[in-house]
Amino acid sequence: MQQLMTIEKNEPIADQVYRLVLDGDTSDITMPGQFVNISLPGFFLRRPISVCDWSNGKLVLIYKVVGKGTEYMSTLKAGTQLDILSGLGNGFDMSKAGSAPLLVGGGVGTPPMYGLAKRLVLAGKPVNVILGFASEKDAFYLDEFDALNDLYDFGCEGFEGKGSGSSDTQGQNGHPHNGYPQVRVFTATVDGSLGKKGFVTDCLGEIAECTHYFACGPIPMLKALKSAMGEKISGELSLEERMGCGFGACVGCSVMTKEGTRKVCSDGPVFAADVLLV
Ligand code: FES
Repeated sequence: MQQLMTIEKNEPIADQVYRLVLDGDTSDITMPGQFVNISLPGFFLRRPISVCDWSNGKLVLIYKVVGKGTEYMSTLKAGTQLDILSGLGNGFDMSKAGSAPLLVGGGVGTPPMYGLAKRLVLAGKPVNVILGFASEKDAFYLDEFDALNDLYDFGCEGFEGKGSGSSDTQGQNGHPHNGYPQVRVFTATVDGSLGKKGFVTDCLGEIAECTHYFACGPIPMLKALKSAMGEKISGELSLEERMGCGFGACVGCSVMTKEGTRKVCSDGPVFAADVLLV
């Protein structure tokens, strides 16, 4: 659906990373892992940004300034209206999560993992999350992931009790939430300034059980993760391709898979790990 959405907030949350909160109709967004395509005045191509979170009438996006378009976007003030195509792409298949899903986000691949983690927790699943960043200054949303442990404190559907609400962004201790689903977050940074020194795959030893994994991030990360997880554990990978139209009308986002050429925007951006040639 094409529509105008109004900026409520557009604020920096890490080095060159911004959080954009928009007011408008979010009814086309049905699955975590979908994306929107934003038109910016003076720029020919729309900017595809994955959905971080959404609720009725409110959309949260997180983007990194990587070029002139996103640099311009970072200057936009509250009240500005943006032309947005929303509800694009397939999203993650939560029905495959099993009893112990693992979510892995690298850099700006982290935002869709937040929306997914939230909905898995609301569906009653315990969730392990591994986040990878270059450095502490690039890291974001650790507290927000941790706060998912408190969802049921606010009377969310599916929960009946009260949690401890304690903070544990490194995931060492977990949350003693009286048997309620918990979110454990492990962090890796390349320079070791936050969490474990290294890559997301260096945190896999902390994960006792994984029934299915979901990941979004740069191709080398997806490749290393898929290889480390092996063929016995199923997974879904979300690709971050450059796009043109965003809805299947051009070939700007084609990738070769084991099942032939696929368009990231309309066949993806989420693909079964065993189908991708990464
Ligand atoms: Fe046009 Fe995917 S961006 S087909």
